[in-house]
Amino acid sequence: MKWLSDVSLTPHHTFGLPAHAHAVVEAHSIADLYAIWQHPDYASLPKLVVGEGSNLLFCEDYAGVVVLNRLSGLEVEETPHDYLLHVGAGQSWHQLVAWTIEQGIPGLENLALIPGCVGAAPIQNIGAYGVEFCERCAYVDIVNPRTQETRRLTREACQFGYRDSIFKTDAMTGWVITQVGFRLAKAWQPVLKYGALADLNGEQVSAQTIFDAVCAIRQAKLPDPRECGNAGSFFKNPVVDAQHAQTLQTRYPEMPMYPAGEGKAKLAAGWLIDQCGLKGARQGGARVHPKQALVLTNADHATSEDVVQLAKRVVDEVQARFGVTLHHEVRFMGAQGETTLEAQ
Ligand code: FAD
Ligand code: EPU
Repeated sequence: MKWLSDVSLTPHHTFGLPAHAHAVVEAHSIADLYAIWQHPDYASLPKLVVGEGSNLLFCEDYAGVVVLNRLSGLEVEETPHDYLLHVGAGQSWHQLVAWTIEQGIPGLENLALIPGCVGAAPIQNIGAYGVEFCERCAYVDIVNPRTQETRRLTREACQFGYRDSIFKTDAMTGWVITQVGFRLAKAWQPVLKYGALADLNGEQVSAQTIFDAVCAIRQAKLPDPRECGNAGSFFKNPVVDAQHAQTLQTRYPEMPMYPAGEGKAKLAAGWLIDQCGLKGARQGGARVHPKQALVLTNADHATSEDVVQLAKRVVDEVQARFGVTLHHEVRFMGAQGETTLEAQ
């Protein structure tokens, strides 16, 4: 294994902001993870497992070891009704989706072009265009490299919710996702409920057509991190009391609003930010994306402080105008571990 000291994190996260880590190392196997956690020079330092860094904001230099999860592997098994996939956590998510479509294994097409590794998909239960990861998940394999304990969590045990799972709770501190199991039904049904996909003909549509349509929508709306640093939606869509949402919709009849169960409604954070006139707003080198207000970008040599200040302005203006609190989806990292916008 190659250990690198005092490494720039700019190429290891899609925001591309300046930050350093005490050390960076790649893990290609569970044995590598054990060796990293046991290494006498690094055993006492904090560890951060990273896939492609597409949901991360490094608020300062990381005083520990960044472990790049590169666990590979892809096995497919067939039952009369399903394809069962067992995939290494370090595989590229989009390459997995593209490969399944090429092989004639449908089911993941709505989730095309989401950056990141397979191992991160369960953590915030990635979702797009009418499908969430949890609907295709069979199980998640995890290991605690310190104790060398391994476990398989069933889909139910993962406690998936909107951009949420057990992997975001304290119970999972110190655990690393190593493999993900998928169950993709042979009796495929297209999911066309998302607005822009509703125009496709459900009788004739193929998984390839949906895959192509999703890629085209995403390329038109979302900035390519290779050209303009970003981490996708910066905030989650807020879930509020249905009554509050109703009051707002009376005042703003065109406001998008989706039922969220149990007297709750989900609002579109992008719409709320847009209504505050913040599209294109700048703070230093950081900018609210002019085509999608929910995405904050590194438009011109931004620092993490620029992004933090811009995010605070967005939260304050949405709160003042709509009485709605936005919470960040992007994971904030401090010198020793995870932190929050509120703590900055
Ligand atoms: P990282 O950013 O590297 O890590 C994210 C978190 O997971 C960190 O806390 C990290 O420590 C932890 N982690 C990563 N791997 C492991 C592991 N193996 N074991 C334990 N912990 C781990 N998300 C959506 O849900 N839907 C979208 O449509 C979407 N679109 C996006 C579009 C763009 C342009 C971008 C840049 C991002 C988008 N995202 C979207 C967010 C992002 O792609 C996902 O959250 C993705 O799953 C992150 O994968 P990653 O490998 O980059 O994770
Ligand atoms: N809108 C505006 N102005 C904007 C942005 C959005 O008015 O600047 C409106 C849209 O017109 C639409 C509504 O807000 O009526 C929702 O917008 P959109 O369909 O673009 O989706 P989103 O809520 O902004 C969510 C996910 C995305 C996912 C898309 C597609 C969250 C936080 N974001 O975005 O996920 O790709 O839906 O399903 O749930 C991510 O998590 O990083 C991400 C990109």
